[in-house]
Amino acid sequence: MQTTSLEPEQAMPEPAALELVGLRTEFRIGGEWHPAVRDISLRISRDETLALVGESGCGKSVTALSVMGLVAKPHGRVAGGRILVEGEDMNAMPESAREKLRGDRIAMVFQEPMTSLNPVMTVGDQVAESLRIHRGLSRAEALDKARQLFEEVKIPSPEKRLKEYPHQFSGGMRQRVMIAMALACEPAVLLADEPTTALDVTIQAQVLGLLDDLRKKRGMAVLFITHNLGVVAQIADRVAVMYAGDIVEEAPVETIFADPRHPYTQALFAAIPRLDQPEAALHAIPGRVPPLDKMPPGCRFAARCPMRQEGCDLPQVLVDVDAQHRVRCHVASGALAHA
Ligand SMILES: Nc1ncnc2c1ncn2[C@@H]1O[C@H](COP(=O)(O)OP(=O)(O)OP(=O)(O)O)[C@@H](O)[C@H]1O
Ligand SMILES: [Mg+2]
Repeated sequence: MQTTSLEPEQAMPEPAALELVGLRTEFRIGGEWHPAVRDISLRISRDETLALVGESGCGKSVTALSVMGLVAKPHGRVAGGRILVEGEDMNAMPESAREKLRGDRIAMVFQEPMTSLNPVMTVGDQVAESLRIHRGLSRAEALDKARQLFEEVKIPSPEKRLKEYPHQFSGGMRQRVMIAMALACEPAVLLADEPTTALDVTIQAQVLGLLDDLRKKRGMAVLFITHNLGVVAQIADRVAVMYAGDIVEEAPVETIFADPRHPYTQALFAAIPRLDQPEAALHAIPGRVPPLDKMPPGCRFAARCPMRQEGCDLPQVLVDVDAQHRVRCHVASGALAHA
């Protein structure tokens, strides 16, 4: 018998909480534009944590800042690609709607909370401010919601602490304030750029545990930028490895540790993560990431690569190893790829 209703398997899949399609962000150096993030595509679903890893200068922060509209003009620009939040294309929105979406459906937590907090305003008023702007709450209502958020991020004596200033908080407690602020408008997507790097190991583990609990409770999608293998092992569902502005490998976390294919991933993950040593850094690799204005036309890692061979001077494309695993290396993928 014919039916007009969609069977469950025919139903449209839920859109990703955050999807980047060919995102390209450039900086102007010596009068010319050079990409720091080169056509990257990523999807993060509800209730999923994607770790973005790579050495210093690979483009991790620029990726997150592009999503937040924080790439500094006039020397920086998002030059291409699309950013979709819960299926909505930010390019297709008027500027005012885009601004509302940022801080409302997407929020970001930075490494150093002191630089993001206003030193002369109580933390309570700072958390309340975003609720007043984005939710139109009165000051009293917003402060009450701020108190609930402080409870949620486990700041002891929230009523009293709301009235204090940032310098009265320890590093770990300040980071909790930042997380409360980021969660105020119940974002679907949380961008966390090395949020625990400045904290000591015990506090770092507590903040990570808190973030993971909040992600589960609220069903958020989290993009977690880190250098730390222990952190990746602890919280990531999937991992995207960036090198010189490109995603060079992407896979579920177990696969990245057990079966890394790209020589860069292999080198980075050569150190075995130990949860009892969460400070374990990514393995140091001889050589440096090329500067933006001196990128080679072929594989950008070739000059440092132990597996370098013929064909590495050609542009490399991401090739599927399987449905969940992609790699940008013709040696690893077994087929010479032409862009
Ligand atoms: N405002 C800017 N002007 C010019 N170049 C910039 C600017 N911001 C970033 N870059 C360049 O873009 C590239 C990517 O930088 P990005 O800050 O994203 O690195 P990262 O992966 O976050 O590194 P780290 O691990 O050190 O935070 C680097 O080459 C950097 O020098
Ligand atoms: Mg960074």
